[in-house]
Amino acid sequence: MEELVEKAARLVANARKILVFTGAGLSTESGIPDFRSPGGLWSRYNPQDFYFQRIISSDKSREKYWVMSTEFYDAMKDATPNRAHIALKEMEEMGKILAIVTQNIDSLHQKAGSSPEKIIEIHGTAFSVSCLSCGKKYEREEIQSRLLAGEKVPSCDACKGILKPDTISFGQSMPESKMESSFRYSRECDLCIVLGSSLVVYPAASIPMQAVENGARLIIVNREPTPMDSVADVVIHGALGKTLTALMEQLRRISSGPQ
Ligand code: APR
Repeated sequence: MEELVEKAARLVANARKILVFTGAGLSTESGIPDFRSPGGLWSRYNPQDFYFQRIISSDKSREKYWVMSTEFYDAMKDATPNRAHIALKEMEEMGKILAIVTQNIDSLHQKAGSSPEKIIEIHGTAFSVSCLSCGKKYEREEIQSRLLAGEKVPSCDACKGILKPDTISFGQSMPESKMESSFRYSRECDLCIVLGSSLVVYPAASIPMQAVENGARLIIVNREPTPMDSVADVVIHGALGKTLTALMEQLRRISSGPQ
């Protein structure tokens, strides 16, 4: 592990335009469950129930969706960034971060102090809700209060339309401009770092894949193996908080002058 962290730190030290790609594994140490680990969200709910077409098809399916969303938001709303998020903020302060493309909807990169203009939330955010008919926006906290007060399927108080958090569900179209920027950064970056993603969901996972195809080096830190391990320069199967803390210590040592 030690030599892998050292090798990763050297790649970071030599990089100037890093594209960081993050997944739910980055936030588990902040108390937010991921999706595909044992005990993750998809071990307790069936993701088939949450396809966009299913959600908009009936009140019954929306009721099921809001039960899952109430639990997930409750874990997110007061969560605080962990050491891995803080490490990324420090990497940005060293002038190395081109962009952070995150699949996460928990706003922890923003809460950690990473610059909002460098963060691309390709799966949206859990902190706002929109009416799918008239577009009226709501704070997620307001909808959470209505749900906790017993409202099973909140609808728009302006037009009675369907309300949905501003997240991207399976089957829902991805935000075009965010995907365009992400692919542009995947072409510009000299190093891509994947943190806490199983890399099984597309089109998100094609972003780090594109970076490698464009000649960028690749570092993966993930507890479990991923389908991209074979094309990575460094793969570390370890806990993100501990690993990134160790990497930053090495990086500071390397960057502080000739060894
Ligand atoms: N340290 C290192 N790795 C971790 C940690 C940790 N503390 N906690 C979890 N992991 C790893 C898991 O082993 C897993 O491989 O993080 C990965 C998380 O994978 P997923 O749960 O599949 O999450 P993600 O890759 O972000 O899922 C992508 O799928 O359901 C959709 O929209 C949802 O954005 C999500 C997308």
